[in-house]
This record gives sequence, structure tokens and C-alpha cells, in this order.
Amino acid sequence: MKSLRTRRFGLLLVLLTILAALGGCTPNAAAELVSPQLGEQLYAKDASAEVIVAPTPVAVKFADLAPDQVTAGLSADFATALAAADPSKGETVALASGCIGCHSVDPNEVKTGPTWHNLADTAANRRPDESPALYIYSSILTPGAFVVNGFPANVMPPNYADVISQGDLANLIAYLLTQHE
Ligand code: HEC
Repeated sequence: MKSLRTRRFGLLLVLLTILAALGGCTPNAAAELVSPQLGEQLYAKDASAEVIVAPTPVAVKFADLAPDQVTAGLSADFATALAAADPSKGETVALASGCIGCHSVDPNEVKTGPTWHNLADTAANRRPDESPALYIYSSILTPGAFVVNGFPANVMPPNYADVISQGDLANLIAYLLTQHE
């Protein structure tokens, strides 16, 4: 039969093992966080730079935006044209201008260009300094200004400013802004 002292020693060992295991689980404030910025953190650590982890951005929902947040950055004239525009005419413009050869509103159909499924939500998040209407406006008139990751540059025709009238452009953008959750 084991002596009381041996049992106590055994118990102490078990407690110490548990404490050591718990110690290993305690979060280390200096450790990298598993976050979308992990790559940046590791890079900064290598360069012995200070690592600042920004909060993960929360996606903006188009439906939550006020009208002036939707059109911020557009000229007053174009914002007025957009407010009076007709989305159903815009769908016809998309067809007549050949956009739908490269874009689809079906989330499962990726053509040469990105899907237009929920495009207004996408546009509200692509560039933090651009409102969704302004982003879509520049995507159509100056496609090279921002190239969507994973898609080819210099494929979308760069001359829509010359071939689509301001009225049709307003209808087209009004139609694209109806694509949201
Ligand atoms: C020949 C193919 C082609 C045609 C035609 C075309 N596009 Fe594109 N479009 C692209 C490609 C490729 C991209 C992604 C690369 C880039 O950002 O320039 C793109 C990007 C876009 C974007 C940005 C989408 C996003 O997810 O950020 C919008 C908006 C857009 N196009 C609208 C239009 C409109 C409106 C028309 C018609 C007036 C049109 N496109 C015609 C190929 C095309």
C-alpha cells in the first residue's frame, strides 16, 4: 500500500501538469492574431517594424445607405439625372451596349467580367473613398482606373463615354444600383 506522502506527491505532480498546460493556453499579447492581416503582421515582424492590427472591415450594405451616401462624389447634374432615371430603360441600355456579353446578373455565371449579382453592395465596398454610384460611374467610363482582382485589365471597352448619352448612362447606373440584397 502506498504511503500518504507518495499519494500527495502524485497529486502535486498532477496539479503541476495541469498548471503548466493552462500556462501554455494563456493568450500572448505579443503573438500574431489569426486575421485577414496575418500576412502583413508576419511581414512587419520580419522587418522588425511595429505591428498594428486594424479591425476587420465590416461590409457596407447598399440598402443601409442614405441617398446622398449613394451618390457622393458625382456632379450635381449627374446626381439629378440619376434621381430621375428609369432602371427598366437601363436594362435595355445594358443589352444594347453589349455589356451583357461580359457581365451577368446570375451569381453562378462568371463571364469575362465580374458578375453583376448584388453589384450595388459590391460597389459600396470596392473602394472606401468612393460611393457606389461613383464607383459604377467610373467603372463604366474609365475601366482602367480600378481593375477588379482576378479579372483582366484592358478588356472592357474604354470608350463608353463617347457612345452612351448622359441620359442612357443615368438609366444604366440606376438599373445597376437595383442589384442588391
Ligand atoms: C469585353 C468585355 C466587357 C464588356 C463588353 C463590358 N465589360 Fe465591364 N468589365 C469587364 C471586365 C474584364 C471587368 C473587370 C476588370 C476591370 O475592373 O476593369 C469589368 C468590370 C466592370 C465593372 C466593375 C464590377 C465590379 O465588380 O467591381 C462594372 C460596374 C462594369 N464592368 C460595367 C460594365 C457596363 C455597364 C458595360 C456596358 C456599358 C460593360 N461593363 C461592358 C469586361 C467587360
